[in-house]
Amino acid sequence: MATVIQYRELGSADVLETVEVPTPHAGPGELVVEVRAAGVNPIDWKLRSGIRGGELTGTRRVGSDGSGVVAEVGEGVEGWSVGDEVVITNAAGTYATHVVVTPQQIIAKPSNVSFEEAAAIGIPVSTAYQALRSLGVTEGTTLLIHGGSGAVGHAAVQFAVAWGATVVATASERNHERLRELGAVPVVYGPGLVERVREVAPQGVDRVLDAVGTDEALDASFELVDDRRNIGTIVVGGKAAELGIQAWSGGNPLPLTDQEQAWRAEAIPAVAALATAGPEGRPGFSFELGTIRPLAEAAEAHRESESGHPSGKLILVP
Ligand SMILES: NC(=O)c1ccc[n+]([C@@H]2O[C@H](COP(=O)([O-])OP(=O)(O)OC[C@H]3O[C@@H](n4cnc5c(N)ncnc54)[C@H](OP(=O)(O)O)[C@@H]3O)[C@@H](O)[C@H]2O)c1
Repeated sequence: MATVIQYRELGSADVLETVEVPTPHAGPGELVVEVRAAGVNPIDWKLRSGIRGGELTGTRRVGSDGSGVVAEVGEGVEGWSVGDEVVITNAAGTYATHVVVTPQQIIAKPSNVSFEEAAAIGIPVSTAYQALRSLGVTEGTTLLIHGGSGAVGHAAVQFAVAWGATVVATASERNHERLRELGAVPVVYGPGLVERVREVAPQGVDRVLDAVGTDEALDASFELVDDRRNIGTIVVGGKAAELGIQAWSGGNPLPLTDQEQAWRAEAIPAVAALATAGPEGRPGFSFELGTIRPLAEAAEAHRESESGHPSGKLILVP
C-alpha cells in the first residue's frame, strides 16, 4: 500500500487527510518514484484554501516538489533505472510514499545533495531563476529582494550574487546573519524601509523582486525605482497590470511565456550543477532547511508555512 496526503474540500489545514491507497504502477511513459522527501511550498496551502486554483472537483493530492528513488520504469521510458535517485518537480502529489511522474518531472539528484535538500529545489529555485532572468539581473545590477529570507529569496540571492549583482534583501533581524553569509546586505522591513535601503545602496536600486506582496513592499519599490517595468512580483500578479509592474504567476491572469517556462526548466539542472561544483568540494548552492516532519504532520507544516515566518524550507518525509 501507499500513503498519500489529500483533501476533498477546500479550507483550513484541517481538511488534509492521510489515506492508504493501492501502490501505484507506472503506465507507458511514466515512472513510479518512492518519495524520500517532499518540499512544502506556499502554493500548496494557497490551493488548499482556495486562494488559488479555483473550485475543487473530486479529490486533490498535495505537493509538487520532492525527491526519491525510482521504483518502477514504465514502457517506453529510457535513461532511467530502478534505484536511480532523483529530484522531482512539477509533479502531482509528492506528499506521499509513492508518486507517478513523467521523465520531464525528474532529474538526477546530485550525490552531495541530501534528499531533503533536493526536495527544496523545485518551485523556489525555478521561480527565483526565471524572475531574475526576466528582470535582466546581471553583473553590476543593484537588486532589492522583498522577502529575502524565504525559500525563493534565498535562491534569488544566490543566483544574483553568483551573476555579479549587488543584493539588498529584506528580512526579520533573526535571518540577517544567514543573508550576509549568502552575500546579500540585509535590511529589516517595516516603517523607514526606503531610507534603510537608500543608506545601504546609495548608488540606487536598478531592479526589484517582490516575493512578499505587501503594500509596504510595493510602495517602497515605487519610491526606489523610476521605471515600474523594473519591478516584478511573484505574489500579487492580479494587481500587476494596474500597477504597471511585471508579474509571473502568483495570480497573474497572463500565463508564463515560453521563454519564462524555459528559464524555469533550465533552473533545476543549473542548481544541481552549482550544488556539485562549489569551491573546495563544498556545494556552490545551499538550502536553508527548516522543520522536517513526518508525512502525517502535513497540516502542521501548512500552518507553519501560512504563518509567513517558517523556520526555513519546510520538508515532509514518509
Ligand atoms: N508566482 C510564482 O510562481 C511563485 C513561486 C514561488 C513562490 N511564490 C510566492 O512567493 C512568496 C514567497 O514564497 P517562499 O516559498 O519564498 O515563502 P517562504 O519560504 O514561506 O518565506 C516567506 C518569507 O516572507 C517573509 N515575510 C513575511 N512577512 C513579511 C512582511 N510583512 N514583509 C516582508 N517580508 C515578509 C518572511 O521573512 P521573515 O521570516 O524574515 O520575516 C519569510 O522569509 C509566497 O507568497 C509564494 O506563494 C510565487
